[in-house]
Amino acid sequence: MKKLASTLLAAGVIASAVAADSAITAVKVNANLDKISYNSPVWKSAKYTTVTLYPQTTIKFNDKKTNALNANNKAISAQVAAAYNETRIAFIIKWPDGTKSVQQGNKTDIYGDAFAVQFAENYSNPKELPYIGMGSDGRAVVIHLQKETGLTYEPNGKGDVSHQINPNQTNLFEKDLATYNKEVTAAGIADYQRSFVAQGFRSMTEIKDGGAKPDVHLDYVKKDWTGTLSRPLKDEYVNLDSAVIPVSFAVWDGAKNGRNGLKYLTSWTAVTLQGKTGGADLMSALHGKIEGDAAKGKEAVANNGCTGCHQVEKTDAESFMGPSLVNVGGYATADYLRESIVNPSAVVVPGYNRNAHSNTPWYNLENGKRVSTMTDFSFLEKADLDNMVAYLKTLKAGAK
Ligand code: HEC
Repeated sequence: MKKLASTLLAAGVIASAVAADSAITAVKVNANLDKISYNSPVWKSAKYTTVTLYPQTTIKFNDKKTNALNANNKAISAQVAAAYNETRIAFIIKWPDGTKSVQQGNKTDIYGDAFAVQFAENYSNPKELPYIGMGSDGRAVVIHLQKETGLTYEPNGKGDVSHQINPNQTNLFEKDLATYNKEVTAAGIADYQRSFVAQGFRSMTEIKDGGAKPDVHLDYVKKDWTGTLSRPLKDEYVNLDSAVIPVSFAVWDGAKNGRNGLKYLTSWTAVTLQGKTGGADLMSALHGKIEGDAAKGKEAVANNGCTGCHQVEKTDAESFMGPSLVNVGGYATADYLRESIVNPSAVVVPGYNRNAHSNTPWYNLENGKRVSTMTDFSFLEKADLDNMVAYLKTLKAGAK
């Protein structure tokens, strides 16, 4: 099978657009899910699904070293499982990473490995899910982020200022200094966990409720990271108590200077909550067959001048006039791609870098609203559109 695939590719045949990974099944359990870790017994009865995380190549960084480190990134295959009970839902994601990277509080150029689980605040219309990176104006996401960090001493919040002193200035020696250092270490925190509501990078609000807190962990075992999340099925930000919910996973590789937008991420992926009925629309939007002929779509993309503003395939020249599309088929849904072409301002891709192309910004501000500078292609025939979407869905790096 592998041989056949490579022969076809060598012959220049574009593989027809394949749907995303299969949906994830959340098994119904009676177990308590308030606290969850990678070795919780609940995962024994769970059903693992392979999901693919694609390098987010939308924007280039100004930093040459970072761009070089990420030049030939492949996609990552991860194993995911889910479980839910009356009140909570839990996820586990396991992915390979040869190097354990831990962010150090006092160093700005060392980045920690991390993972995030993202939910759409509103998924009633599967054709208008939030922008996959970080949500977008009017389409909010809830994000739970866990990063691997070294011990940071955070007396604030504990009210302890007696240990907020540089050890060299304590006037303590030998045994007393050792005791002091021990106390400082004991007060340190190595658990960087944040939850946000976001509508794009510029509007992130940290959720700091004391109440229904998520329980998130990251563990490095035999060159694999395992991330777990348990959170309420329903809180004031998102209601996940449905037959089918969209979820997206992201991971950061600290060894490749991964941070902010520089990550690997899955497309919106459906999670079916075992035993509930409904959600067929969402299911088919995310995992259904994609209409259209990818080979014809490639021609349509060339004939409509898309490559003038976009790097479409890896072999094309880089362009700063629009986002790179080389992995867009991996992380974007078919509906999102269609909307991007016929209504560019519906979602304006965030992460715009004003230095990237001084004469041609990605968007202009009109009455405080961001308006895309991309040509509106709503005049295209449906068949051309279908073909283009089918082609764009083939644009993605293979897994390692
Ligand atoms: C005049 C330049 C220009 C042309 C021509 C153009 N685009 Fe765009 N495109 C942009 C810009 C700028 C953005 C980012 C702002 C936005 O979201 O609309 C964008 C965004 C996109 C996105 C969203 C990418 C992402 O990472 O989410 C897709 C998909 C896309 N374009 C596809 C196309 C296709 C297909 C064509 C040809 C039919 C095309 N574009 C033609 C400038 C252009």
